[in-house]
Amino acid sequence: MRCLLAWAALLLAFAAVPASVVQVIQPFDDPRDPPSWRPLTDAEQALHELGLTVFNTSWRPAGAARAERIDGLGPVFNAASCDACHSNGARARTAVEPGLIPVSMVVQLGGPDGKAADPSYGHVLNTAAIDSYQPEAQIRLSYTERRGRYPDGQPWSLRVPTYRFEEMRLGPLRNDTVIKPRLAPALFGSGLLDAVPVAGDSATGRFGWQGNVPSLAAQTAQAFAQDMGLTSADFAQDDCGAADTRCRAAESGGEPEVSDEFLAAVIAYQRLLAMPESPALEQPYEKAGLALFERHGCANCHRNSLPVSGIEGLASIAPYTDLRRHDLGPGLADRSVSGKVQPSRWRTAPLWGLGHAVRRPPYALLHDGRARSIEEAVLWHDGEAASARRRFERSTVAERNRLLDWLSAR
Ligand code: HEC
Ligand code: HEC
Repeated sequence: MRCLLAWAALLLAFAAVPASVVQVIQPFDDPRDPPSWRPLTDAEQALHELGLTVFNTSWRPAGAARAERIDGLGPVFNAASCDACHSNGARARTAVEPGLIPVSMVVQLGGPDGKAADPSYGHVLNTAAIDSYQPEAQIRLSYTERRGRYPDGQPWSLRVPTYRFEEMRLGPLRNDTVIKPRLAPALFGSGLLDAVPVAGDSATGRFGWQGNVPSLAAQTAQAFAQDMGLTSADFAQDDCGAADTRCRAAESGGEPEVSDEFLAAVIAYQRLLAMPESPALEQPYEKAGLALFERHGCANCHRNSLPVSGIEGLASIAPYTDLRRHDLGPGLADRSVSGKVQPSRWRTAPLWGLGHAVRRPPYALLHDGRARSIEEAVLWHDGEAASARRRFERSTVAERNRLLDWLSAR
């Protein structure tokens, strides 16, 4: 922890970069090395490179040969590197098709009382394990198709997911355990979301699809622990269920497994990641799209201006989110193993960077990747967003396409 503080102090000392050069949206010339939203000093550049290396590192099991500083993976985990799920900082680059769920999808578990964690399996159902262990489970997804029509007769089709659990190492899940499938979101602009002053009901957090994680630093330490089985100063427990004594007794790759230096570097790396640029629409189309977005009421939640504090030369950002949580109805809500709907509130998904994803398929939208297109994502809006969806449905085909084109240029 002391070391983390030292890094933080160092970072502050670096802050002397001319304010005029802050540029939130940047061209991504080399997608494998996404740019920062401001120029870096030499010392920051070194930290950035270390952070990128940590982000891309495939961690090894405890005691692996020639892996002293990068061992301690598991014993159960989902993926061995951050990059395996957040491909070069982008959202999961995968479609979410029937069959075993993709690596970049994590099924979290919740108690019925809102408590996180299952006594046998912990917070995350880990689908991989190091050689001497067994994964906790395999998770199989299927869909039923739900068809309908717009008021003008145009057909649409949505997919309703169902999850099945196989090869459960410690027996079946309890009937009241809540299943929380989550697809890896993009990390671009995370440091800027972190700089939005806390307000109102967002006080519990702003990261994760439910906005339930307080900070970028907390989310990073949690990802190491729960998705990768790696302890750090900020998160000292792997994701072993309370009752899984064998998992708890597993060999450690060091105390902690992720050094303060590596943890601080990967946080610093993410903090400065810019948003990818999308090709600009011609002015009339840009204006018409925004007008529809506002007229339908999308912008009430997907707000196109939020203040940021503590960043010289930047007063606000345009993330198309209010960072608040909303109930979008039972169709999108999490369910328990027995199928009971768990009232769920979701952070308004930031729409900046959406174009980067849809221009580089495969991609999938919404918290569990069920939406195959922006149009499907909009049609799933219900609950607090029902009236906005209805206005979208009732608009003409030309208007719907105008809005969808505008969205894919964010
Ligand atoms: C197995 C896949 C997987 C791995 C590995 C993984 N993540 Fe994630 N990440 C996710 C998922 C899924 C979410 C969404 C979690 C939620 O909604 O609760 C997420 C969310 C995040 C977020 C929050 C973004 C936002 O806007 O809400 C950050 C930041 C993040 N991860 C960073 C990391 C870092 C850094 C690493 C490596 C230390 C990492 N992740 C490893 C799957 C993964
Ligand atoms: C009441 C608040 C609210 C309103 C109004 C609203 N949204 Fe959303 N939107 C959300 C939330 C919350 C999510 C995340 C839901 C989830 O993942 O389950 C979301 C997700 C999305 C996504 C998917 C983003 C992603 O990263 O997967 C798109 C696209 C989107 N909204 C577009 C729209 C459009 C277009 C409108 C207007 C017709 C609209 N939204 C109105 C709250 C809202």
